[in-house]
Amino acid sequence: MDDAPRASDFQADADGKSLLRFLTCGSVDDGKSTLIGRLLYESKQIFDDHLAALERDSKKHGTTGEDIDLALLVDGLEAERQQGITIDVAYRFFATARRSFIVADTPGHEQYTRNMATGASNADLAIILIDARKGVLTQTKRHSYICSLLGVRHVVVAVNKIDLLDYDQAAFARIVAEYQAFADKLGFASITPIPLSARFGDNVTVRSPQTGWYQGPTLVEHLETIDVESDAAAKPFRFPVQWVNRPNLDFRGFAGTIASGAIKAGDPIVVAASGKQTRVERIVTADGDLAEARAGDAVTLTLADEVDVARGDVLVPPTERPEVADQFAAHVLWMAEEALLPGRPYLMRIGTSYTPVKITALKHKVDVDTLEHLAGKTLALNEIGFCNLSTATPVAFDAYADNRETGAFILIDRYTNATVGAGMISFGLRRAANIHRQDLMVSRPEREALNGHKPAVLWFTGLSGSGKSTIANLVERELHDRGVRTFLLDGDNVRHGLNRDLGFTDEDRVENIRRVGEVAKLFVEAGLVVLCSFISPFRAERRMVRELFGQDEFIEVFVDTPLETCMARDPKGLYAKAKAGQIAHFTGVNSPYEAPDAAELTLSTAEATPAEAAAAVIEDLTARGVL
Ligand code: ADX
Repeated sequence: MDDAPRASDFQADADGKSLLRFLTCGSVDDGKSTLIGRLLYESKQIFDDHLAALERDSKKHGTTGEDIDLALLVDGLEAERQQGITIDVAYRFFATARRSFIVADTPGHEQYTRNMATGASNADLAIILIDARKGVLTQTKRHSYICSLLGVRHVVVAVNKIDLLDYDQAAFARIVAEYQAFADKLGFASITPIPLSARFGDNVTVRSPQTGWYQGPTLVEHLETIDVESDAAAKPFRFPVQWVNRPNLDFRGFAGTIASGAIKAGDPIVVAASGKQTRVERIVTADGDLAEARAGDAVTLTLADEVDVARGDVLVPPTERPEVADQFAAHVLWMAEEALLPGRPYLMRIGTSYTPVKITALKHKVDVDTLEHLAGKTLALNEIGFCNLSTATPVAFDAYADNRETGAFILIDRYTNATVGAGMISFGLRRAANIHRQDLMVSRPEREALNGHKPAVLWFTGLSGSGKSTIANLVERELHDRGVRTFLLDGDNVRHGLNRDLGFTDEDRVENIRRVGEVAKLFVEAGLVVLCSFISPFRAERRMVRELFGQDEFIEVFVDTPLETCMARDPKGLYAKAKAGQIAHFTGVNSPYEAPDAAELTLSTAEATPAEAAAAVIEDLTARGVL
């Protein structure tokens, strides 16, 4: 949702005209590109040489015979022409005498829900295209729901190709009634149905003589006059700090783009997270100081007092503060091939701040075609769910319904840095609000002194049958004999008690490791050397557990035994069963194992006996000073 242009990119209001951002949604054949082409054409945004090229191209690629194919104007990419579908979000600019427009042209192809969401995230209005011959389709509903979820307040129901139905009033009325019955639930501020033909221009700019029965505005009239009340400057002031500018000791400024609201030099502000209060001293820009700045302006603020402000902080007025919380409920639209897994750590970017985050509960999924709530454990590509989230540090936010700039976030994969999800916050959860940490009278150093050694976690990971538990057992025996306080957490054992409710799906394995990590942390606080023997097939969760501990406390031991060897050993007969199709999700057979790339210790059991491997672990612990 980052790449969307801001009004200032286009200087649209340079001549004082207001700006309307809208998006067009429709399926491949609904005539979307033709409609946008016509809007550009009729607003004279096409230059003569461009037009000549278009006439040539229309003969070559077009689908409209001898006429100019306006769709070719917008389906610019060669790949698109050949596939006949639009494949990316494109922003286009045009203006009429009364208003300027930015159109987000988003693909109609079903798989591209995420692209559509990108286009919708800052649009004031959506044109939902319906092919008059086909009426309201499943994806008409899907697009409408996504628009409502992303805060688009106004909808135009463009009943296109009405020429092909001989401008039939009854057909139009039927489609409108069906659409309205559905969209009632979505809470749009306005729904405006218009019968039109993008190809012939009926009711686009000029009122059609063929639809004498239609009393409403033409599309362009409506776009020019609709009051979208989208003025971000009227909302409370929100300034996410992008970076701290400190070129020398005399200047300390906070640079960023005003997300909403306006600010004057001298206004009081607070840092949302800390509540520290001061005043704005100067509003600095490349072109000199300003007395006042507003939403969309990129400025550097200097403050009257030396308060602590860092990148990611949000400066706000003391009287209109955002919520600050580390748990909240939000809709999440999943954008990655790999499913969302509750419990797995992701990175969240909200405003200019980044923080680790977990989905603590998937409350329900939304069937985007029927709006039904469905139970679910994960979100697949393009699915939408309502989730509880928990961040590592408190974040400042507004409900998305109140402020689209400060209520939206994205989720990022911590390994690939790819954007994997987009979220819209509904409300903060106060459940953890009255829980504080209790100080313990016996300290860590005292426990260590009593035990006579440091605590640590030995995390054995590897395939089933790799020898993890055998080696861990030998290591524990030796440690115990040397007077070290230990405990061994073993996958099979823990799954009989604490984790008896968990199976072997990806999401259950994530939860298995999360719980074991927390238990190991308690044992480490008690001063023990904890041995954990779990397949723990995913890098992300091993890293999550690692991050619960101090630098030298977590020792990852990769029991590196080739799959063929494990299968040949098959100590519990499970590989045979898995290969016979009797066990689903069996690691190495039909569920993945991601080998560590930077384990503290790798034991290659093909070359060593269990006793030798155990000795290597003891040696490593000695070298690390644990023993
Ligand atoms: S983990 O993947 O969640 O870390 P864990 O180590 O707790 O797994 O449990 C693995 C043990 O459960 C295996 O050693 C094996 O005995 C048993 N098991 C039963 N079903 C499966 C399965 N589908 N995949 C892997 N192990 C299984």
